[in-house]
Amino acid sequence: MEKKKIIVTGCDGQLGRAVNRVFAKDEHYELVNTDINADIKLDITDIDEVVRLAKEVKPYAVVNCAAYTAVDRQESDEDLSFKINAIGPRNLAIAASELGARLVHISTDYVFSGDAAKPYREYDETGPVSVYGRTKLCGEQFVRQFASGYYMIRTAWLYGDGKNFVRTMLRLAEDHEEVSVVDDQLGTPTGAMELARCIYALLPTENYGLFHGTCEGDTNWAEFAEMIFRLGGKNTRVRHVSSEEYARMNPCAAHRPAYSILDNYMLRMTGGYRFAHWEDTIREYFESGIV
Ligand SMILES: NC(=O)c1ccc[n+]([C@@H]2O[C@H](COP(=O)([O-])OP(=O)(O)OC[C@H]3O[C@@H](n4cnc5c(N)ncnc54)[C@H](OP(=O)(O)O)[C@@H]3O)[C@@H](O)[C@H]2O)c1
Repeated sequence: MEKKKIIVTGCDGQLGRAVNRVFAKDEHYELVNTDINADIKLDITDIDEVVRLAKEVKPYAVVNCAAYTAVDRQESDEDLSFKINAIGPRNLAIAASELGARLVHISTDYVFSGDAAKPYREYDETGPVSVYGRTKLCGEQFVRQFASGYYMIRTAWLYGDGKNFVRTMLRLAEDHEEVSVVDDQLGTPTGAMELARCIYALLPTENYGLFHGTCEGDTNWAEFAEMIFRLGGKNTRVRHVSSEEYARMNPCAAHRPAYSILDNYMLRMTGGYRFAHWEDTIREYFESGIV
């Protein structure tokens, strides 16, 4: 049996690792794992490198898990943000379409302004309020423009095996009795394993397009922190603060959408994948030992 080759970019990131865990169970696929510092080095901002590797591998699909995700840092690092989050997916889209390979690309709730009063659907108007949001939106536009068969999934508040809010809270709990966390930004924590399962479900299908892909339910960061401390057996208190107060304490913080709950409308309408509830997923995360 000839295996279907999948180029994974950003394989050392949270989603890259989750994709490896999920796809490892299926012998029909062979992953070609790449990252900026991996054994197979691939810098997605370099079109020549991307096209060369794609021609060599002749992949069935490219799964783009690479990105520049440090939201605050990008406010003063716009060129690198644009290179990684916009030109990177453009390069992958060009290479994938030249070779007739499917492209999975991940985008973000931060393409929205956060002014909504009900969960965002795929056709709702975008309006990013940060550098990260703007460059990710441009990446989306390039994928639409250059890829032929693509699955573009907007996710949110991602955590997995890597740097994330859950690990930050647990680290702070080591030497803090109380932490200040904003309670006026609403969204949905999403486990990287759930997103990887969604990719796994979509990939063999022709169910292409733009999808919202987050866990079910919603919360705010302060409540999420409380859940993390409960599951982690920590006594740390959470002081609820507003985004305004938080911005005064951290003046370099990027502006973030106040409301970024996504409705997985396309996935529901097409029967593509049903995400688990965020509370079940965070419990699974603690039980898995990945945390
Ligand atoms: N994390 C979130 O809360 C969140 C929320 C919404 C959407 N998303 C989206 O979900 C996707 C996966 O995010 P994640 O949290 O798994 O990201 P991550 O953990 O930050 O992983 C990204 C990976 O990409 C690598 N990378 C950076 N620049 C690269 C380049 N030029 N070429 C190749 N690889 C490069 C990074 O390497 P270095 O670490 O060495 O830079 C890292 O290994 C991204 O598209 C992200 O925008 C994430």
